Amino acid sequence: MSRYSRIVLASRPAGAPTPDNFRLEEAELPQPQDGQIAAHTLWLSLDPYMRGRMDAAASYADPVGIGDTMEGGAVGVVTDSKSDRFAAGDIVVGRIGWASHGILNADEVRKVDPDIAPISTALGILGMPGHTAWVGLNDILQAKSGETIVVSAATGAVGSLVGQLAKRKGMRVIGVAGGAEKCAYAVENLGYDLCLDHRAPDLPGRLATATPDGVDCYYENVGGATLEAVLPQMNTFGRMAICGMIAWYSGQGIEDAMRLPKMWRAILVKRLRVQGFIIFDHNDRFKPFVEEVAPLVANGTIHYRESVIEGLKNAPAAFLDLLKGGNFGKQLVKVSDT
Ligand SMILES: NC(=O)c1ccc[n+]([C@@H]2O[C@H](COP(=O)([O-])OP(=O)(O)OC[C@H]3O[C@@H](n4cnc5c(N)ncnc54)[C@H](OP(=O)(O)O)[C@@H]3O)[C@@H](O)[C@H]2O)c1
Repeated sequence: MSRYSRIVLASRPAGAPTPDNFRLEEAELPQPQDGQIAAHTLWLSLDPYMRGRMDAAASYADPVGIGDTMEGGAVGVVTDSKSDRFAAGDIVVGRIGWASHGILNADEVRKVDPDIAPISTALGILGMPGHTAWVGLNDILQAKSGETIVVSAATGAVGSLVGQLAKRKGMRVIGVAGGAEKCAYAVENLGYDLCLDHRAPDLPGRLATATPDGVDCYYENVGGATLEAVLPQMNTFGRMAICGMIAWYSGQGIEDAMRLPKMWRAILVKRLRVQGFIIFDHNDRFKPFVEEVAPLVANGTIHYRESVIEGLKNAPAAFLDLLKGGNFGKQLVKVSDT
């Protein structure tokens, strides 16, 4: 047994989470059993879905229990292996959680090849968020050359790849992001045709001006006022991939949101195809995603950006910031160098 650090869910938030909802503590790390590995965390991923795991409400995954380690994907180095698939020193990605060390089932862990790209990308552009972008664009939206797409949270871990892949398909690509700096980055670095700041006044009017031929595809990451601006611009037979709704994760703005009958009517009248998806249902599409995107990342054709904070103890603050748009690119915690 050895001691390790972890951040647990101390209490459930009422509305927006606060630092008091988390607690840093030490615990005993058990030995790995047959078919398991022990790993030391190098990088921890912070993702919007973790907000949902803090609530007790029924969802597509079980909530984190009070006193349990916050869930999360992480890249780590194997320190002990009771599996013939892994050896000490291997770099792996798996669900270690918000912890300095973890014991993982070997069949739930993937090896990371450090020669392809920096290992942190296994949590971002070449990991779950990148996979989500690729599946949402190709399989859910079935996006095509010549169409107009709107991407919300346009510079984030998911949106930044959606925008770049959509451009490579020959689409007209409109981003929506928070603030002038993110919007400039979307156009200058990610290749968006245009990016609109959702914090500036009259998003509906600016979006209508930017999409004179309407919108064929909407890659939905946020809900809220952005969704309400996009819906009137959707073309007949348009498609919407419902990936996330971060604007509503803590309940803010729900009272002011468009009422269901109005939204339902828009879907009917425009004959929209609206499909929600959760990436873990699409594991069979991970291989083709990586085969297409990894070479483009390796040769610098596809860009990515990371927001890094140092130290496990700072994960709660970085997570709270992410929920408010404080991250610029994939939010990571550098837990250890070695
Ligand atoms: N369905 C799935 O399987 C799946 C998988 C991965 C992610 N997702 C979802 O995809 C979305 C993006 O995830 P990500 O990892 O790429 O996160 P991210 O975009 O890197 O970070 C979240 C971003 O959301 C934006 N945001 C926060 N509050 C907002 C608000 N009220 N209105 C508009 N934008 C707001 C902020 O960007 P701005 O500063 O630009 O506003 C913030 O930076 C999330 O909703 C997430 O839950 C779903």
